[in-house]
Amino acid sequence: MIRRNRILRTSPAIRAMVAETILTPSDFIAPLFVTEGENVKEEISSMPGYFRYSLDLTINEAKELWSLGIKSVLLFVKAADSVKDNKGTEAVNPNGLMQRAIRDIKNAIPEMVVMTDVALDPYSSYGHDGIVEGTEIVNDATVEVLARMSLSHAQAGADFVAPSDMMDGRILAIRNILEANGFDKVGIMAYSAKYASCFYGPFRDALDSAPGFGDKKTYQMDYANSREAIRETLMDIEEGADIVMVKPAMAYMDIIRLIKDRTTVPVSAYHVSGEYAMIKAAAQNGWLNEEKAILESLTSLKRAGADLIATYFAKDAVKLLQR
Ligand code: PBG
Repeated sequence: MIRRNRILRTSPAIRAMVAETILTPSDFIAPLFVTEGENVKEEISSMPGYFRYSLDLTINEAKELWSLGIKSVLLFVKAADSVKDNKGTEAVNPNGLMQRAIRDIKNAIPEMVVMTDVALDPYSSYGHDGIVEGTEIVNDATVEVLARMSLSHAQAGADFVAPSDMMDGRILAIRNILEANGFDKVGIMAYSAKYASCFYGPFRDALDSAPGFGDKKTYQMDYANSREAIRETLMDIEEGADIVMVKPAMAYMDIIRLIKDRTTVPVSAYHVSGEYAMIKAAAQNGWLNEEKAILESLTSLKRAGADLIATYFAKDAVKLLQR
């Protein structure tokens, strides 16, 4: 035998020396769910160990993330039913919960990279990402609101807006409105290859944003397709996206690799709520070792090509890495 591949696996030290993929805290984007009120900490039933926080507690959470070396948060808000409509009125409210959350986090931790979800679902009386006419989610009218929503996030101090709606042409519209208003340092992280997925279920519980009728298949992508992901992503880059995202992550690693090989912008992967829930549920049943499952999953996403990983395990992962 002239090649003994096991030599490079002999000891922890050798394995560490030849490891190709190493997670670091700055790989992670930590999603945060913000709710109204004070001193509110509500566990999301389908996401054990993950919470919705009122703004005061969100700040504490963001400070802890920052102290662990996590550079970025991705904000989502749970809007009250009373402010939901079919026009996205609350989405552009300069004093809405999202806009207040951006301002308060930037005030508390100016260096933290604040990213914001841009889509109408938390504000929609129909639970859809866009404006509804009949049974249709209309594209161009939605894009117009999403652009104004992005501008209002920029005005509140957001570093990146993250459109998750999958309407056609929204990246260009957002880039244009940001340019026109002098926000030339605000980035766009586009959910470019976002699939219509059952793995978003727990998230919709968290924000009370499940679609009231139908599904999201006329705007989110069909999981049967991969070439379509390339088309969507290349268009988003042409329209001005700074970072592109693949979502969900684990069942879509082929897409992450494909996008990584075909583009030159940073690629992020969203390890979504259902992926979190699966690991948690298996661990709670004693079927999987949670800590090992977290590190194996996230390292594999980076190996697949993700430069950034949005994950509900961000804090756990950094604590595990510190050991
Ligand atoms: C909203 C949005 C969703 C997620 C992120 N932004 C839900 C959806 O599209 O229905 C899912 C995130 C997760 O499941 O963790 N457009």
